Amino acid sequence: MGASTSQKIGVFDSGVGGLTVLRQMYQQLPHESILYFADTARLPYGTRSPGEILQFVREILTWMNQEGVKMVIMACNTSSALALEIVRSEYDLPILGIILPGARAAVEKGQKIGVIATPVTANSHAYSLAIAEINPKAEVLEVGCPAFVPLIEQNLINHPYTKRVAGHYLNPLLQQGIDTLIYGCTHYRHLENVFLEILPRHIQLVDPATYVVSAAARELRMLGLKNRKTSQPTRFCVSGCPQKFAFLSKQWLGFTPKVEKISLPVLPDLFEPNLSNYKFPSL
Ligand code: DGL
Repeated sequence: MGASTSQKIGVFDSGVGGLTVLRQMYQQLPHESILYFADTARLPYGTRSPGEILQFVREILTWMNQEGVKMVIMACNTSSALALEIVRSEYDLPILGIILPGARAAVEKGQKIGVIATPVTANSHAYSLAIAEINPKAEVLEVGCPAFVPLIEQNLINHPYTKRVAGHYLNPLLQQGIDTLIYGCTHYRHLENVFLEILPRHIQLVDPATYVVSAAARELRMLGLKNRKTSQPTRFCVSGCPQKFAFLSKQWLGFTPKVEKISLPVLPDLFEPNLSNYKFPSL
């Protein structure tokens, strides 16, 4: 059976980062109903192994599929970099990643592109690979910023340490003369005010959240899946503490969301250690 236009769009992230995508959806796709999931019990994703990230993404997609979404947007660069290509063929659902729309927007703006991202995304070189396909002449410098997500999730955005650490990550990019900077992690837009104090005015900022939502709008049109009725309120679900998520999110949403704690389906763990060849020491 084909998807119906009034079904929800699934949006997920490890935590509050995906709210930057959600905000864009409220602006660009006000008629769509959304199921937002934050895997707060297991964040940060950005220092996890590729196997763990793939497993988490499969659990989330299986659950969203069971909930009957018509499309999924990965509001998480780390999941998009590590799992998108693998899971796309595993589900009968349109699944959108955030890296390609971000890369496309960045090459329109500059030639020497800095990317701040989680260590996993930076090490995957997902942005340099995507940009090289579009404009092989563009230069890309990717920096892993492990401290940002823990600082944001602990609501320490305005702490003086956050500005110091931001300078530490950004200065090498500035010294190399970037003209464009991509927020290569959806959480980082929440630090915009901190970055604006450090970055010279001429640097173009690219928030892939804006462009993944425009890509979703095009895809909905192409698939004939645009909702024509009024939207339902967003359903917010987390794997960790609902109260903590609700409290933290309020500053970006402008309202306190009602948040449910859910259990994701347990899938066979493809990365379970194989102990069958373990040699016990002779005692
Ligand atoms: N917000 C996510 C991203 O865009 C994940 C951050 C994390 O949990 O490390 O990569």
